[in-house]
Amino acid sequence: MTPAFAAVMPPFDADRMHAAYAVDVVDSGPRRGTFCRVNMVSSLDGAATLAGRSGGLGDPEDQRLMSVLRSHADVVVVGAGTVRAEGYGGAAVVAEDAAWRAARGRAPQPRFALVSTGLGLGPDHPFFARALERPVVLTSRSAPPDRRAALAGVADVIVAGHDDVDLPSALAELAARGMRSVLSEGGPRLLGALAAADLVDELCVSIGPLVVGGEAGRIVVSGTEAPRDMRFVHAILGERMLFVRSARDAFAPDASVQGVD
Ligand SMILES: NC(=O)c1ccc[n+]([C@@H]2O[C@H](COP(=O)([O-])OP(=O)(O)OC[C@H]3O[C@@H](n4cnc5c(N)ncnc54)[C@H](OP(=O)(O)O)[C@@H]3O)[C@@H](O)[C@H]2O)c1
Repeated sequence: MTPAFAAVMPPFDADRMHAAYAVDVVDSGPRRGTFCRVNMVSSLDGAATLAGRSGGLGDPEDQRLMSVLRSHADVVVVGAGTVRAEGYGGAAVVAEDAAWRAARGRAPQPRFALVSTGLGLGPDHPFFARALERPVVLTSRSAPPDRRAALAGVADVIVAGHDDVDLPSALAELAARGMRSVLSEGGPRLLGALAAADLVDELCVSIGPLVVGGEAGRIVVSGTEAPRDMRFVHAILGERMLFVRSARDAFAPDASVQGVD
């Protein structure tokens, strides 16, 4: 397979991006019938944040691509640290992508799933209070029972693992509920845990043309090195940012059918 490289002509071409990021959850491969894509943003020098948040690294095209990627997911999985820092709540996809999904027989909006053991986000947090689809909470047996009970009123609570959330079990539970196409938006510690458990089938990185310096962390944080080989699928140059899609071998689609030329 030859990676495809292309310049995206402004304005943002949503149809082309939907084709370039199509997901096919095949009933084969290492984990039959499930698929986990991760979407992150980075500076040129590998910073995952600018002034403590990812937003300053991106741009409107990156935001628009995020909606496209969410459109291909049944569920968008995020760690509690990201929800706290980035302020999740409300629609996952823009109206055009909601219509794109509805035209394909899917709910207009994917669901959001929160990964948390501490369950410090209460039912009144916008993540729950402003949700358009009933959210999911992925937690573990060590979570505070009163907080778990409070969230059960506003979300489907899935308990997997004892201390940390057992991510392979959590993804299997999502799949058993019909959520087979997973998009995770991090953050770095959740991505580290997903990578350590060998659950990252695709890593999409939006690279902003700036050098941050300082001591910002990387997009993957984990206790030990655990190298995972990926294969480049495409790199698309937008007005300002570079959008790189990579996949592990078993999931790498043939670039020639991706509509990237
Ligand atoms: N560059 C990017 O694309 C990007 C993307 C997302 C976030 N960020 C940035 O990253 C920073 C947050 O980083 P982070 O690493 O703390 O975020 P994170 O991975 O979203 O959150 C970590 C928290 O998620 C929960 N968690 C994650 N994995 C878990 C597991 N296996 N089991 C149980 N709980 C788990 C825990 O929450 P509890 O403490 O509630 O148990 C943990 O404290 C923010 O500054 C944000 O802006 C950058």
